[in-house]
This record gives sequence, C-alpha cells and structure tokens, in this order.
Amino acid sequence: MPHPVLVAPSLLAADFTRLAQEVEAVEAAGADWLHLDIMDGHFVPNISFGPFILKTLRPLTRMPFDVHLMIAPADPYLAAFAEAGADHIIVHPEAGPHPHRTLQAIGALGKKAGLALNPGTPVGHAATVIDLLDIVLVMSVNPGFGGQKFLDTQLAKIAELRRLIDASGRDIRLEVDGGIDARTAPACIEAGADTFVAGTAVFGAKDYAAAISAIRGRARPVAVPPLAAPPLAITSAART
Ligand code: DX5
Ligand code: ZN
Repeated sequence: MPHPVLVAPSLLAADFTRLAQEVEAVEAAGADWLHLDIMDGHFVPNISFGPFILKTLRPLTRMPFDVHLMIAPADPYLAAFAEAGADHIIVHPEAGPHPHRTLQAIGALGKKAGLALNPGTPVGHAATVIDLLDIVLVMSVNPGFGGQKFLDTQLAKIAELRRLIDASGRDIRLEVDGGIDARTAPACIEAGADTFVAGTAVFGAKDYAAAISAIRGRARPVAVPPLAAPPLAITSAART
C-alpha cells in the first residue's frame, strides 16, 4: 500500500524576522512536518542554527520536527536536539565515525532515525543499516544551501531505495530534499518517493497551501461559488 505523500517545508527558506508566523502559516496551509536544516560550516559550507531555535518554536506547532543534521560529528549533539523537540533526527553517513552507532543512539533517545544520502553517496550506506531506519533522505542537491537546481540523476537512486525499502518490509519514509517543486516532485513520486522537503517552493510562494498541494500532485481545491437562485423563467410559479 503506497504511503500518502507528505510535505515538509524547510524553515531555511522562511522569513527569519517572522519565524513564529511562518511556522504557524505553513501548518495552517497543510504542511505535514517541519524540516529543520542544521549546518555547521564544516560538514557543509554554510552555518544555520542550533537546538535553541527548535526549543523556541516547539510550543507553537504540533507538526513533527524533521531535523536534518549537516554537522560532523553529530553524536555529541543528538541529545540536545532530542531535548529541544526533534521528532526525527537524520544524519549523514560521512559525519562519522560510526553511522550504525549513531542511528542506534537516535533510536535509544526515542526518536525516529534517518539517514541522508548525498548525490555522490551510494545506496549501500542505507542497505547496511536498514534495520535501524525510519527515514531515508535522498539529497537531490549537494547539501548546504536552499534554492539549488534538482539533480535528476538521483531518480535512479530513489527507485533503487524503493526496492530496498519494500524488500525490508519496514515502515520507512522515502524523503527527497533539494530543488523540489510541483515540476520535480512527480518524477520522484513515480520513482517511489513518498515525502518531500521543500524550502523555496513553499516559503517563496504567495500561497503556501497551493504550493503544498501542488507538490503532493493535487491542484488546490477550487472554491465553488454558492448556487444562484434559479432564474424565474424555469420556476413552477413562472410556468403557470
Ligand atoms: C539543503 C537543505 C534543504 C534545503 C532545501 O542543504 O538540506 O533542506 O532547505 O531547499 P530548496 O527546497 O529551496 O531546494
Ligand atoms: Zn534538509
């Protein structure tokens, strides 16, 4: 049974002068998860924010926090992100030193564990730890910045991961991150993805709800105007 498509707007593309309103707005617009990109200026060439932002935002929303750690090492910070309100913690195998141990530690904290695969990182990294995974995150751009172009070379990897996940019999979300919008999501869904991170395509849109629906592959329901009163000529009173 295929999963329903979930959309996780990435806070990185939000207006940081209005962070609370932005979070409330994407939740009201139908977002399923909130994706939080944590960057250390070392594992990736950019610096974003730390656990205190999660802690500040946690009381404002019921959306699960999908925390993408682009930091190395990740192990010393897992507990801090868990305590600050992370529901999912996603790490990169290259963050080292022992991804299997890191995923065990995330599970031991009571959080869902995810593995992120960069465009140049092979599927085998997920295969060897599949028994510990709740999420596989396919990076369809090199991590570090929002607003990059979707790499369609990653579609074959999505299809391979779909086969791997189905063969495992585990309930694992296959999430795609980078350059996702209404034009790039359909090919990912076709290849087997069921969850989308979208920064620019949601926070850069005028209408967040329409942008989220479009990524799910559904146009936003059009409001139907109320029925007008029947014209006099066809009422029974008019006929008699
Ligand atoms: C990139 C991040 C992404 C980023 C996506 O390193 O992992 O989550 O925010 O941004 P868009 O959707 O604009 O490509
Ligand atoms: Zn991300």
